[in-house]
Amino acid sequence: MDVKDTRTLNHELVLHKGFKLIRGTHDPDDVDQIFNLEIRDSDVFVVTYPKSGTIWLQQILVLLEANGDVTAITKINNNSDLIPWIEISGSRQAFITASSPRMRVTHLPYQLMPLALSQGKGKVIYVARNPKDVLVSYFYFHKMASMLETPKDFNDFFEKFVRGDVFGSSWFDHIKTWYSHKNEMNMLFITYEEMIQDLRSAVERISLFLGKELSDEQLANVVKYSTFDNMREIPQASYKQVPVNLLNHHQGRFMRKAFPKIRITDKFGLWRQQ
Ligand code: A3P
Repeated sequence: MDVKDTRTLNHELVLHKGFKLIRGTHDPDDVDQIFNLEIRDSDVFVVTYPKSGTIWLQQILVLLEANGDVTAITKINNNSDLIPWIEISGSRQAFITASSPRMRVTHLPYQLMPLALSQGKGKVIYVARNPKDVLVSYFYFHKMASMLETPKDFNDFFEKFVRGDVFGSSWFDHIKTWYSHKNEMNMLFITYEEMIQDLRSAVERISLFLGKELSDEQLANVVKYSTFDNMREIPQASYKQVPVNLLNHHQGRFMRKAFPKIRITDKFGLWRQQ
């Protein structure tokens, strides 16, 4: 087998129960065990379609847990050490034995997540981002992430994204399915664009949803260290310390542009960039 064949194998997507996983990163049998996990009321799952602000929520949750004390982050290698992905091979066992509050992120669709969530156990924060910016962000991410196939060109990637032929499958299905089950569970549904427009009130909503009681000063610190510019300077928050064999930092940055900086609607009700 030559080098080219090996690369193809590493990037292979596996269709599992209607959802595309990445061979090697995810084990379908392992993912199946997630459905029956026992959920505690204190458990928190951040659910996103890829490139919708997962890393942003990791930073906000880590800071809320630390009452805004940013030095808590310097003691770890990466925010995902504290708030890992539930679906990555091998992470389920650690979840079962972890002390509360257990916080996890996931890109899984509703049907593969613990049944107990739809019975009102635990908490879900769903973060949605508009598909145009997800598409662009995902395109650049494919260029730097070794577990994903390098796109031939933007048009080709666009077709794949619209067909749902990417890890995460269809953006449209992901958001539609989760949203349609919103009222069955304890869910905070928030958008990336709301967070861009008013981070302070987004952080307040998240804090309230989690039942955290922070002082004004502590909340202000959570907001301060969750801004795009500040997160970019914190290696643990911006994935700069993820090994180069997983993320090729010479090919781009995980925190790229945060496009759009801000968008407001014009007098015709159309989005317009500031
Ligand atoms: P861009 O590629 O458009 O820059 P995920 O963590 O789900 O992969 O999402 C990554 C996207 O969220 C990246 O988008 C990244 O820049 C953006 N992001 C992360 N933290 C952010 C912040 N504090 N403010 C704005 N955007 C942020």
